[in-house]
Amino acid sequence: MMNEHAVLVRSAKAADVAHIHALLKPLAQQDIILQRDEDNIFQHLQEFLVAEYDGHIAGVVCAHIYGKNLAELRSLVVIPAYQKLGVGKMLVEACEQWVTELGVAKIFALTYVTGFFLKQGYVQVSKESLPQKVWTVCVHCARFADCDEVAVEKVLSDAPIEPMSNLLVHVAA
Ligand SMILES: CC(C)(COP(=O)(O)OP(=O)(O)OC[C@H]1O[C@@H](n2cnc3c(N)ncnc32)[C@H](O)[C@@H]1OP(=O)(O)O)[C@@H](O)C(=O)NCCC(=O)NCCS
Repeated sequence: MMNEHAVLVRSAKAADVAHIHALLKPLAQQDIILQRDEDNIFQHLQEFLVAEYDGHIAGVVCAHIYGKNLAELRSLVVIPAYQKLGVGKMLVEACEQWVTELGVAKIFALTYVTGFFLKQGYVQVSKESLPQKVWTVCVHCARFADCDEVAVEKVLSDAPIEPMSNLLVHVAA
């Protein structure tokens, strides 16, 4: 007999915050994702989606909007016990759909799991093409000068994308 499992992706609620924090903390300690305390999660709660697998929170993702041309997919984590079951892919798809519905044309991520994102249709880009991120967030990071994360992006809309800020950007290799 086949086992049927229910996976649901939904907006995060205040009651999820402690759970989201516990889920993100070990990855943040390894510098894989952004460090966030519970207050920070509350303050950005409307940016978070959670995945429930058979009623248990299995993963989380967050979308931060920079402007009509750009959103960032952040804080993507699936609990190890629920990995390789399609939950990460569902979170990414739900995040993209949400951002598309908001009218934002492109989404990017900085990641160590490039292969995962390439499978979801993302392409690798240079960090220099993301000045909104580099000069607001990355510039404050201890690893700014020797960042080894890979930038990936996906165009979500067929509408023409206006050129991004033409700031001159140089990121040390
Ligand atoms: C990356 C992560 C979110 C993937 O979640 P997941 O639920 O295991 O992924 P899925 O089961 O939805 O995988 C979807 C596809 O990607 C593949 N995939 C999963 N992890 C992968 C990886 N690290 N590298 C390459 N491909 C990967 C799967 O094999 C699957 O392929 P298929 O469609 O051909 O079967 C999860 O491993 C995780 O939380 N990692 C630690 C935190 C992290 O690195 N987050 C990313 C921050 S940007």
